[in-house]
Amino acid sequence: MCGIIGINSYKPVSATIIDSLKKLEYRGYDSAGIATLSSGLINEVKSEGRVDILEKNSLVKDMEGTIGIGHVRWATHGLPNSINAHPHSSQNVSVVHNGIIENSTLLKKFLVGKGHKFKSQTDTEVIVHLITENLKSDNIVNSIKKTLKSLHGSFALGVLFKDQPDLIVGARRGSPLAVGYGPNENYLGSDSYALKSMTNKITYLNDGEFCVIKKTHVEFFDEEGKKINKKVLELSSEDQKYDKGDYKHFMAKEIEEQPTTIKNGINEYLDTANNDINIYNFPWKTKDISSITLIGCGTAYHSCLMSKYWFEQLTSLDVSVDIASEFRYRKNRFKKETLYIFVSQSGETADTYAALDLCKKNGMKTCAVVNVIESSISRDSDFVLPIHCGTEIGVASTKAFLGQILILYILTLKLGLLRKDISEKAFLEKLKDLKNLPNLVKQTLQTDNKIQNISNTFNEAKGSMFLGRGFSYPIALEGALKLKELSYIHAEGYPAGEMKHGPLALIEEGMPVVVLAPRDNYYKKTISNMQEVIARGAKVLLITNKSKDEIFSENIWETIEVESTNEDLLPFLLTIPLQKLAYYSALKKGYDIDKPRNLAKSVTVE
Ligand code: AGP
Repeated sequence: MCGIIGINSYKPVSATIIDSLKKLEYRGYDSAGIATLSSGLINEVKSEGRVDILEKNSLVKDMEGTIGIGHVRWATHGLPNSINAHPHSSQNVSVVHNGIIENSTLLKKFLVGKGHKFKSQTDTEVIVHLITENLKSDNIVNSIKKTLKSLHGSFALGVLFKDQPDLIVGARRGSPLAVGYGPNENYLGSDSYALKSMTNKITYLNDGEFCVIKKTHVEFFDEEGKKINKKVLELSSEDQKYDKGDYKHFMAKEIEEQPTTIKNGINEYLDTANNDINIYNFPWKTKDISSITLIGCGTAYHSCLMSKYWFEQLTSLDVSVDIASEFRYRKNRFKKETLYIFVSQSGETADTYAALDLCKKNGMKTCAVVNVIESSISRDSDFVLPIHCGTEIGVASTKAFLGQILILYILTLKLGLLRKDISEKAFLEKLKDLKNLPNLVKQTLQTDNKIQNISNTFNEAKGSMFLGRGFSYPIALEGALKLKELSYIHAEGYPAGEMKHGPLALIEEGMPVVVLAPRDNYYKKTISNMQEVIARGAKVLLITNKSKDEIFSENIWETIEVESTNEDLLPFLLTIPLQKLAYYSALKKGYDIDKPRNLAKSVTVE
């Protein structure tokens, strides 16, 4: 939820820290700050708002120092203003933090009693004063160890010391943190993306570990303060440089990239020589799996819901789906023959990671479907199915959603074949249709101008409904989420068959309602639900697929027909007009499309 950077170098660091913070803004962007050490003093500059504002601050321009830390914030405790922005510093210590300190109130009381003066409303500031207090009687390593043991909750920390001009400390519990290695300088960062422009040599800290970053080397310690060795990974240069190109927004680019990312995903798992699917080193025998539980948050949760329909259709597996923040506190019945699948674009979502950790602690089989291969959920699962979409910067997930459901569909096909729930013939037919999906996605992306005009009506409405049955229901949820998070308009995804049980009361004259009604087994029933809302004055945008059969209904406000294909693949195509509807609606409102208010790309706190 926040972004951390630290650099220990022989040359001035402030400009590089600012550049790295810009790469981290997708993790949070309501305030930012930097602290360096020069002439024996901690220089701290912070500002409300985006990193650009911090950069323009004259104090930053003249900032000296070859060692420093920086932070972009998504507020959890305390208003998003310059006082609560990080770093937080005492005279001797400066700290940047990602996470939540759950016992901060108690610690603050203890520290105030010791004479420490607090300036902010944040939980983070207790860490500054606790380290300062412990340094009175201990060396750096023991002070850090003692401080970390006193903290309850989650953290990724970067710490600078006035009296230690040659080191930065990093510590991790529950929030990701990485070390990077450069020429005569070393780095600390929330994730590899922030460090990729400086190095591709990365070490990830695990929970409970901390490190001391010097210019020439890095020392790692376990939570008892014992020195440990850590692996150095060489990251792929797959998406070393990622920018908007000719697009106005990352989201626009990521929507248009979908034919390519779908093709990449298919190619990664298609064994063309044998006309088969390859889920490399799947570690379990299919006879040892009788049920599947899929877990995720937000859009990733919608991917889980979507795949439930495929698993039910194409395999005899029992399938359940849960929202990670619910699952992690539920009284779960863990069974060894259940495979737990964790879906996450970033691979760092705190609730999803906590659900994974709970399953691992109960000895369960765990599989991750992620985009960021080096992420915590990926590294800590038994088995990983990467979606290969490349970096997704837009906070509103688009290509990653299609990538997630693609890989889940591919997994379903393979398990269905291995378990003999589907015939070889059916498998081959579906594989043939799948290979054509990139073209179909490309054709469906042409719905541009119609959607641009339609989006005005949604902008003028006080709310809207998105309705669907069967696999159109998770797509309706996803479409509603896109509109909510981009244009700040209330939108509700709902099972079409459920409207008569209450929400029909919401329908009033002129209210825009999206009805997803592909020509599947639910088509006729969904059309009747559509007529129920038209009869009450709704302006219905019908999204269906091309067919020679007429649509039996009048007074439909607008219709969009996506390409026709194997029914399994229609969810991919139905999603695209909904992504564009949300995009154009936010564009017309002039909102920040890649960084919507109150949100962040990776929610690494509860
Ligand atoms: C999707 O548009 C949202 N940005 C959000 O719901 C997101 O899907 C959710 O936070 C899960 O993120 P993850 O896939 O990185 O775990």
